Amino acid sequence: MTPTASLHDIAHLGSVELLTPAFDRSLWYFHDLLGMEVVQRTATAAYLRGYGDHAATTLKLTAAPGPGVGCVAWRATSPEALERRAVALQEAGLGIGWTNGDFGRGRSFRFHDPDGHVMEVYWEEQRYVAPPAQRSTLKNLPQKYSGRGVGVRRADHLALLAADVPANRGFAQNLLGFQLREQVLYQNGTREIGSWMSPNAIHHQLAYVADLKGGHGRLHHFSLWVDNRDDVLRAADILSENGVFIEAGPAKHNNSQGFYLYSYEPGGNRVEIYSGSFLVMAPDWQPVTWNEHERGTGVYWGGALPESFIRYATPDIEGEADAPRLPVFF
Ligand SMILES: [Fe+2]
Repeated sequence: MTPTASLHDIAHLGSVELLTPAFDRSLWYFHDLLGMEVVQRTATAAYLRGYGDHAATTLKLTAAPGPGVGCVAWRATSPEALERRAVALQEAGLGIGWTNGDFGRGRSFRFHDPDGHVMEVYWEEQRYVAPPAQRSTLKNLPQKYSGRGVGVRRADHLALLAADVPANRGFAQNLLGFQLREQVLYQNGTREIGSWMSPNAIHHQLAYVADLKGGHGRLHHFSLWVDNRDDVLRAADILSENGVFIEAGPAKHNNSQGFYLYSYEPGGNRVEIYSGSFLVMAPDWQPVTWNEHERGTGVYWGGALPESFIRYATPDIEGEADAPRLPVFF
């Protein structure tokens, strides 16, 4: 057993903040097309959730000059775990400091990963309580299914680009206690192209993938879960009917076995509609590794992922991608 397997101070992905230069259109995409609920508004931000998200919010949209990822919030497993992580992250030189919290959650300790993405860990979380008209007859469902648009159920994971994947993967394993689930290793295992990790049974809640343009702090995609493949196919119809650019899918990845659809929300961020995949419960899980030949085009079946998939991320930057010969990826 690895030392990190017993850490268990992080419970799950809490909330992702997406920055958008097209705030109103982004809100239309997530609310009208994906079917998320808006639970709070300010002059420059909106807080949303899927109908199956038990927390008050899992997505924060923030108006900004350009697209990208803001703060990625992780929920601790206990108040003590929050304090432990704050000390450890501070000692590692990654600490930013304590905040008084945000809508839906209490005080948090903010930090950055080695690549520069801003993250925070918190304990106090507000559970969503639906207004009477939105209550489900299922007592264990936080809100009735709206039937609006895609109807995404919950936030699932995000993929970040990193100039140094091993350093960021090591940070997630050793300082956050995430379990490494799968890796893509090229050049006889010497070049780590991507690593997929999780603090819980969900296959991956965080992926680090090589930033082939050498940038820092960039977002590859944010992923929202639907219950079955038909929902992904219906999402493709809904997005196409509304003029949203679909970059890839619907198709199936080899890594994670995920059934995917990637589109760009109007602000420019890549968003995945995701289903299938598999759960991992084993405390002694052995990471699955893929080389460039096994990995192929990153798909199990369906068309190859397009060039944009390895060249575009938010914020977009100039520069030639140091792309491996094969058009890879997740
Ligand atoms: Fe994904």
